[in-house]
Amino acid sequence: MGSDLGGCDPSIRHSGAAPGSSHGNDGKEILEMTASHDFRADAGWARAQDDAEPLRALRGEFLIPPHGDGEQTYLVGNSLGLQPRGVRQALVDELDDWARLGVEGHLHARHPWLPYHREVRDGLAEIVGAEPVEVVAMNSLTANLHLLMVSFYRPTPERHAILIERQAFPSDRDLAASQIRFHGYDPAEALIELDADEHGGALSMAAIERALTERGKRIALVLLPGVQYLTGQAFDLAAITKLAHAQGCVTGFDCAHAAGNIDLALHDSGCDFAAWCSYKYLNSGPGAVAGAFVHARHAHAKLPRFEGWWGRNEATRFQMRPAFDPAPGAEGWQLSNPPILALAPLRVSLELFQRAGMQNLRGKSLRLTAYLVWLIETQLGDMLEILTPSEPARRGAQLSVRVRAGREAGQSLFEYMVAHGVLGDWREPDVMRIAPAPLYNTFADCLRYAETVQAWHRRHA
Ligand SMILES: Cc1ncc(COP(=O)(O)O)c(C=O)c1O
Repeated sequence: MGSDLGGCDPSIRHSGAAPGSSHGNDGKEILEMTASHDFRADAGWARAQDDAEPLRALRGEFLIPPHGDGEQTYLVGNSLGLQPRGVRQALVDELDDWARLGVEGHLHARHPWLPYHREVRDGLAEIVGAEPVEVVAMNSLTANLHLLMVSFYRPTPERHAILIERQAFPSDRDLAASQIRFHGYDPAEALIELDADEHGGALSMAAIERALTERGKRIALVLLPGVQYLTGQAFDLAAITKLAHAQGCVTGFDCAHAAGNIDLALHDSGCDFAAWCSYKYLNSGPGAVAGAFVHARHAHAKLPRFEGWWGRNEATRFQMRPAFDPAPGAEGWQLSNPPILALAPLRVSLELFQRAGMQNLRGKSLRLTAYLVWLIETQLGDMLEILTPSEPARRGAQLSVRVRAGREAGQSLFEYMVAHGVLGDWREPDVMRIAPAPLYNTFADCLRYAETVQAWHRRHA
């Protein structure tokens, strides 16, 4: 499959720290990586950065959509990641094994189907900073959050509120409100939506702390994002969990925009559960199989759950006994035997993450996004306002920008960008999201974004 990390310093290939440890870049390192003193808005400079980038060969592992005679400038991996080249063959291999082996593929396929979810488990655990027993690939994101809330949202008359953020992704709001109703309570009273208190729509730790101090005793569950979909704000999961647990609240995170984007350390954060999708930064295809995390301290707990035979202990699963004997850890939440054709792209994608190392990817991501910030602030400041927090540790790859000239101008700019092969995405009412994904985006992509905005401005000024 494809090229190796040509020219890559071998010492960086496996520098991801042990699963479950806090494997993030520290504050001083982050400041050094994002220093803008040498940034230049010229093509030669951008090319030189890309040529010197240790992870540069990974771009060749992806199919970049065409635009005219060239390629798109694809800055929308926060919505749908690109297809790794190896996916097609991996799918063909599974189809061939099914044709060749029929049911025997469960044991004798090149990647046997029976233990298939194990093939992705360790790679996923490394990406989200978890122990293997804490993660499982299954279902879709919203389904996983519902299943986990069956176990972790246990409301009582005194404590039945759920705390989310006001601008939560609609699905998060829907699942919180419907779980509240399912348990016989009223979302009008029990769904606490925390207002953003920072310029640009971010939520400060002080606001979260205040809400927990004032209302913590009636909050059963805190459900916040790892990275907020609209603003791009990255949250401090460990700090939130500590505050929430001190008030007796269970804590879960929607990591849709965080998995494969920032240095998650789910185990060390201490949170009770988390879930994410795999079609964004994890590049596993539209509607890909999602992930779920259950902290190791619950691995053997007798928690209420919705049960299915694939959640049974493997040793007894095929004895077809009447009683449900859960597998330890996150696997105990599985319902059905896994969709192999849907897991194959995830397996291929995780191999690329493993080759790069999550910490290295985050390092490159910090530099790329810092460059994009610098370009916007120094070249496009009259046109665009960045909504995403300015501190690099409080954001991932994504920047959310608002067009100063208003919503109509914003839509005109967005359409112009798409027509010129520069892909971001648009979120109502007036936010354009752009995310240089470190697996395949480049400094040249960031520069091309800035140049295309300038070209639009010249046309419309
Ligand atoms: C933050 C967030 N939560 C939930 C969802 C819903 O995901 P799914 O449709 O895979 O359940 C999305 C989808 O983009 C999302 O961005």
